[in-house]
Amino acid sequence: MGKSYPDSPVYCHCMETGDIVRIFTESGYQIDPEALDILKNESSHELIKDVLESVNSSVFVIGKEHIPAFVTSGRQMPETSGAPEIKAITGPVHPGGRSITSPPVTILSDITDHSTCIGEYMDFVQYFKDRYALLGDMLRKRISARPIESLKKRNLDSREPLSIIGMVQDKRTTANGHRLLEIEDTTSTMRVLVHKERDRELFEASNSVLLDEVIAVTGTLSTDGNIIFADRITWPDLPNSRPSLEEKRAKGKAVFISDIHVGSNTFLEYAWLRFAEWLGKRDDIDYLVIAGDVVDGIGIFPNQDKELAITDIYEQYGKAAEYLNAVPGRIRIIISPGNHDAVRQAEPQPSFPERITRMFRNDITFVGNPSMVELGGARVLIYHGRSMDDIIASIPGYSYEEPVKPMIEMLRVRHLSPIYGGRVSIAPEKTDHFVISEIPDILHCGHVHTVGVMPYKGVLAVNSGTWQSQTEFQKRMNLDPVPARAILVDLSNMKHEILNFN
Ligand SMILES: [Fe+2]
Ligand SMILES: [Fe+2]
Repeated sequence: MGKSYPDSPVYCHCMETGDIVRIFTESGYQIDPEALDILKNESSHELIKDVLESVNSSVFVIGKEHIPAFVTSGRQMPETSGAPEIKAITGPVHPGGRSITSPPVTILSDITDHSTCIGEYMDFVQYFKDRYALLGDMLRKRISARPIESLKKRNLDSREPLSIIGMVQDKRTTANGHRLLEIEDTTSTMRVLVHKERDRELFEASNSVLLDEVIAVTGTLSTDGNIIFADRITWPDLPNSRPSLEEKRAKGKAVFISDIHVGSNTFLEYAWLRFAEWLGKRDDIDYLVIAGDVVDGIGIFPNQDKELAITDIYEQYGKAAEYLNAVPGRIRIIISPGNHDAVRQAEPQPSFPERITRMFRNDITFVGNPSMVELGGARVLIYHGRSMDDIIASIPGYSYEEPVKPMIEMLRVRHLSPIYGGRVSIAPEKTDHFVISEIPDILHCGHVHTVGVMPYKGVLAVNSGTWQSQTEFQKRMNLDPVPARAILVDLSNMKHEILNFN
């Protein structure tokens, strides 16, 4: 069934386009222009509530057929230009073309067609249990930890150092400026004090502790057994012993891009055409990997319609297909969605539905977000990167200008989207697909529209920018995008080049 109707007073004013779009966006849906027109003309809160309560949660774009009053009464619809038929996400994911299981492109992990999410309370319990189990196991290989409950029952010698492994429930600064964490394992919760003077380095490191991540804390227990004084915090992290990037010995060259935003009036077509011309001249490029936001979408943010050059989502994909179908056929293209794309907004996101993929040439590999693919022997983890909004907001000193910093944080916590309840709407799958269980050679993100490449413990973190110049929203937020860049990586030695087509 549909998602709940947000009951904020903001929805009780007159029904402007922006209000309607916001209501649907906040409930996880996009809305097509025709349905928007109908709802705007009706100006009825009840009708919107009906739509949200009756629409199936697998629908991603609200169309006129999802407006019950119109469907049941047979009232006449406004003139349309062939409104698109809206479908749930059921289409084949990898249509036609070369086999996806044979080299050179192999899909190693992908949520598409494996979603178990219904969104019930118990699903969330299972989801977090799985996160704790996977990340806790990584830490248990290095640290011998005690269940928190056992610390409260036994009469322990409080001078002996001990360790616990748990999920971070709370992070605060005390009145005296110390850091106070609350850690939960499957047995109980424990407060952890990081003293601001006892170990300055540890105190600084605790800045980057994120809510809902799993860490190990080593320290001494207070005599009443209610608090641990931390001496060390351990993150799951990547092993130090990983082979260096130069030793990878994979084959081929890959170009990484993201956030094309076709359909926006700030999409840089001239730069894209320059890029396409360059691709046409290079016969040594094997792969083109796109990390989401292929189109600008519709109803993604209030008043977005004023910034669109193409106002129909399927026409946006039609145009994107035109551009990508013109890429030389020898280049294998891999596409994963982002938050502007027409798939469910809750992450992990499945790949595009068949209605969209069929517009593209049939050798393109469509995957979900996140997903891991193997290209010529190199493992590439693709994640659009919406969680970077939350990570940047949580860690002092992090900013959109340095997009690789939150990406390295993901590798350190071995989780692509640790913070629950922020900008990322997390679907409670039975398995936590954001846990980085298998270590990639390349982590490819986009979303923040800035560029960065940095190696970290044998993994190349790549953020590939955008093909859209500064939007009105970014102007207001003082965000400076770095558009029209492509990152070329030689998979045989992981050497990279940032190419500028602006
Ligand atoms: Fe984007
Ligand atoms: Fe995005």
